[in-house]
Amino acid sequence: MCGIVGYIGHRDAYPIIIKGLQRLEYRGYDSAGVAIYDGKNINLSKTKGKVEDLKKKSESEISLAGKLGIGHTRWATHGVPNDVNSHPHYSNSGELVIIHNGIIENYDSIKKELIKRGYVFHSDTDTEVLVNLIEEVKKKEDVKLGKAVQIALNQVVGAYAITVFDINKPDEIVVAKLGSPLAIGIGENEFFIASDASPFIEFTNNAMYLEDEQMAILRLGKEIKLRKIKDDSVVYPNIQELQLNIEEIEKGGYDHFMLKEIYEQPRAILDTYRGRLLASQGLIKMAGVDDNLEKFLNANRIIIVACGTSWHAGLVAEYIFEDLARIPVEVEYASEFRYRNPVITDKDVVIAISQSGETADTLAAIKLAKEKGAFVFGVCNVVGSSISRETDAGAYTHAGPEIGVASTKAFTTQITILTLIALKLAKEKGVFSTSKLHEFLTELENIPSKVEKALQSNKLVEKIAEVYKDSTNCLYLGRGYNFPVALEGALKLKEISYIHAEGYPAAEMKHGPIALIDEHMPVIVIATNKGHYDKVVSNIQEIKSRKGRIIAIVTEGDTTVKELADYVIEVPETFESLTPLLTTIPLQLLSYHIALMRGCNVDQPRNLAKSVTVE
Ligand code: F6R
Repeated sequence: MCGIVGYIGHRDAYPIIIKGLQRLEYRGYDSAGVAIYDGKNINLSKTKGKVEDLKKKSESEISLAGKLGIGHTRWATHGVPNDVNSHPHYSNSGELVIIHNGIIENYDSIKKELIKRGYVFHSDTDTEVLVNLIEEVKKKEDVKLGKAVQIALNQVVGAYAITVFDINKPDEIVVAKLGSPLAIGIGENEFFIASDASPFIEFTNNAMYLEDEQMAILRLGKEIKLRKIKDDSVVYPNIQELQLNIEEIEKGGYDHFMLKEIYEQPRAILDTYRGRLLASQGLIKMAGVDDNLEKFLNANRIIIVACGTSWHAGLVAEYIFEDLARIPVEVEYASEFRYRNPVITDKDVVIAISQSGETADTLAAIKLAKEKGAFVFGVCNVVGSSISRETDAGAYTHAGPEIGVASTKAFTTQITILTLIALKLAKEKGVFSTSKLHEFLTELENIPSKVEKALQSNKLVEKIAEVYKDSTNCLYLGRGYNFPVALEGALKLKEISYIHAEGYPAAEMKHGPIALIDEHMPVIVIATNKGHYDKVVSNIQEIKSRKGRIIAIVTEGDTTVKELADYVIEVPETFESLTPLLTTIPLQLLSYHIALMRGCNVDQPRNLAKSVTVE
């Protein structure tokens, strides 16, 4: 969490930093700050609130000139979100300035030590401790900033991506990383630093991502000096050409990123299977699976680890792998898995799912699984992310940047890729004949146009949202493949509209949640015509007899549920295992409209951040 941006070069730093922070605001928006150095003075401005608040404040209170700048948008860990705790932070001498994303776990003992040596602290942050530790090392050891950073970082425990400069060195910025992401954009005699590449994409396509335990000294007119933090050994920079383009990270005429990303799903799903699915030949090509086929085929079981929405995609995958490929699957919250001493062997395949590729708990689960000898396969959206680098092999979803904090296209593209993997294994195991595979792949190719149709429910969904926007509770029910969709629908509603919502397997309703049902309770039931349709219809009857309000997601042409429900939203017919790709669409739209009508910040819901890089 937290977004960091830095610039050093020949341009004015301020506009780059502010625009960059706006692009990184998905990473945290409790407070924001900027420091611009003009070679003589540091102009620093920070405030509780959003980057827009910072912009207003800084433009009225500081001089904005300067070719070196750093900025930060914060998701609070240590210290409440207020002006003082906002970054950047000065060292006591006022000579060093730092921004930090992450947590220094042993900050308290370091702070006590520094206080004994006369240091004074103004904020409650671990970051202010770090910058003063660097200062103390610099003075005590009589070394330059880069060396001081290296020595100091060897004394801290935790996670960080830092950017720091020294007023005595106006042509240099020092960066370092462990656990939190950090990208460096390389232009003509200029460097850009950011938590992801979006802040500098219009300036340069050349970038490198720092690896964990690496630091770099970025000095104008010089090559990047890349080092390992532990032993100062030299590392050769791996500079890549970025594939990102500017349109992908802008709203493109939509009011919100979330809405744009909901509407992008037909294209995103297509991009996920493009070049991988050859329906006419009954073939699925995916290098990460092809190269490791034996590992998948000989696996005793697949363990899926993920968090949040990605965990829901994992639950859908459990149904898909077991049903289609007959491989046993366990789905684990990464945060539980990593701490509960799980039994893992080298006969297990672990699939880690993550949109951002940076989720700390998922990363830790991967490391644990690898230590125990499992083969770990990653499903990520963000190219070059930590998880994509940490896993033994993997497949990108190619959904394009997802900026709305509530995950939408990540979910459907994760399901798409996991379906492809399951189908491939089904074919290789001989569970699926070529003709059955052909039939499935052809239907998968129809999904983007069916999602397009499902999106046409938008007007109706908006009308339904108007009716239920003031609800205080909401129940989501689904069975089989659509039980995880019910969970996901409930998560979407609670995270962006702050209405309490629960997802349940429909049959579980009678074991407790049914007590909640009265004439005020909206119950959203996924009742598509495949699978356990009759059973779901019975569940709907049970809700109706208790006067619950029923909003049903049904297959086009359904008449039975129409008789019972207050509202029905139709989605096109498809194979049962592919229904989550369609039924989830109206649920995303429903939460979007309700949140909007309640005046909530759809793209940046309170207390959340897109990339959860703390435990
Ligand atoms: C919900 C949401 C979160 C993420 C979770 C995992 O809309 O976005 O629940 O799904 O934080 O994030 P990734 O997929 O980046 O590991």
